[in-house]
Amino acid sequence: MSKPLHDDFGAQARPAQKHFQVLVLGAGVMGQRHIASLIEIADKVLAPQGITLDIAAVDRRDDMLKVLPARVTPFADMDSALAAQKPDIAVMAFNDDQHISAFRKLFAERPDLQAVLTEKPLTEHLREARELEPELRKRYLSMNTVVNFSPVFDRLTEMMPSIDAAHGGLKPIGFEAIWGKNRTADTRPSIGVPSESVHALSIISDMFGHARLSLEQGAAKKGYLSEKAADVIYEIDSTFRSGKTGTPVLFHASYVFDSQHRKVTAYYGAGNGDALAVELDFDVKHNGQNADRLRIHRIDRASGAIETLVDEHPSEIVNGAAPGLLRADRITAFNSLSMIDFLTPPQKRAPALAARLSNLDAALEVQAEVEQINPQNRLLRVSEMDADPKALGKPKYGSITEAGADAVLARLAALESLQKPAPPHALHGSHRAAKKGLVEISRLF
Ligand SMILES: NC(=O)c1ccc[n+]([C@@H]2O[C@H](COP(=O)([O-])OP(=O)(O)OC[C@H]3O[C@@H](n4cnc5c(N)ncnc54)[C@H](O)[C@@H]3O)[C@@H](O)[C@H]2O)c1
Repeated sequence: MSKPLHDDFGAQARPAQKHFQVLVLGAGVMGQRHIASLIEIADKVLAPQGITLDIAAVDRRDDMLKVLPARVTPFADMDSALAAQKPDIAVMAFNDDQHISAFRKLFAERPDLQAVLTEKPLTEHLREARELEPELRKRYLSMNTVVNFSPVFDRLTEMMPSIDAAHGGLKPIGFEAIWGKNRTADTRPSIGVPSESVHALSIISDMFGHARLSLEQGAAKKGYLSEKAADVIYEIDSTFRSGKTGTPVLFHASYVFDSQHRKVTAYYGAGNGDALAVELDFDVKHNGQNADRLRIHRIDRASGAIETLVDEHPSEIVNGAAPGLLRADRITAFNSLSMIDFLTPPQKRAPALAARLSNLDAALEVQAEVEQINPQNRLLRVSEMDADPKALGKPKYGSITEAGADAVLARLAALESLQKPAPPHALHGSHRAAKKGLVEISRLF
């Protein structure tokens, strides 16, 4: 059993520098959440190590600056912030379309900047991320994929070896992934579903180990979505395939769903003749709280009958601190793990901890994956039509517990009909092959 991560921190984090200036770019929904968790981390994790953070935030909206905690210095624009402060760490939480210009300014005016903690996506376009790459490579970078910090992955990693053994060995058949919500009334700028697709695709690539997802075919809808997301792809019904394992992924993402749906289901064929489905639901309500749900079902291939073996809402989040010290949410896990990783000298960084984070290589790889969702991609049939807020839809794949036996067998058959052998270069993994969690398990199958 490996050492708990919080034990490593005291032994490893001995930076010469003890005081850091943090500049949070954007004090909107995400910026406020980053600030709240950074303050908690500063007080409970860093202060006992003798490390202090001085936090400032930039937002052009006065109403956002007004609600900042008193200890956060507010600025209305980057110029005044950079004139007054020399940030060591920047947290990018501007809207997607502002990331590139803000990064350019930051690197030009603050060449000594040491670390970037960024919201996804890194930039709107891969070419912009590539432009920034040389500057980003000089610094520590961690991108927030949020759901990858979910405790469902730790539980699954714990349980899968015994489930694998009990069913005579498991082999992946494929994935169904659903991601989206109703964004027709959302006034925040958006590039459309490529932005949300980061989550589903990075779960499959990073957490399940089926990296290098390429789009094989799909249908997309492009048009007016809302005020600040005028002409974007707002729905995609597609097939992706892992370049690493050859595993197919059926992916339906939409901003015209009737409500928020975030689900990834992994299907496995079992050595004893059954099939298994690992069903993950993100951001569902459980006992009045936001939670993620993990279910594992056995599927009888003869009848299509389902037996649910596991149904849990795990809540123990690994954030690098002693259990219970920090609030148990995924944003805090991102900030805490990123800060600990950054403050630890590179040669002493814990691989188990770093593997939970998305570094620059991971950020670029997922950016390339979602960038395939664009109107110029000839593998996508793009229909031009505006989103209709009065005609919201349901996801294509619901829980298999709500499908009839015939529908369950048809869904399995659809994925099995897409089987192809793993590519010959499959063993040469990308950087993601080293990711923690289910990658370990996927090697078993
Ligand atoms: N990781 C996730 O799950 C997740 C979830 C939601 C949003 N996001 C990402 O987080 C980022 C922020 O999203 P949000 O939901 O907090 O949006 P938001 O609109 O609530 O907040 C962004 C804030 O930045 C400010 N801003 C933008 N450009 C600025 C500029 N040039 N100068 C000064 N202020 C500026 C806006 O006034 C706004 O208050 C986006 O990149 C988004 O894609 C990630």
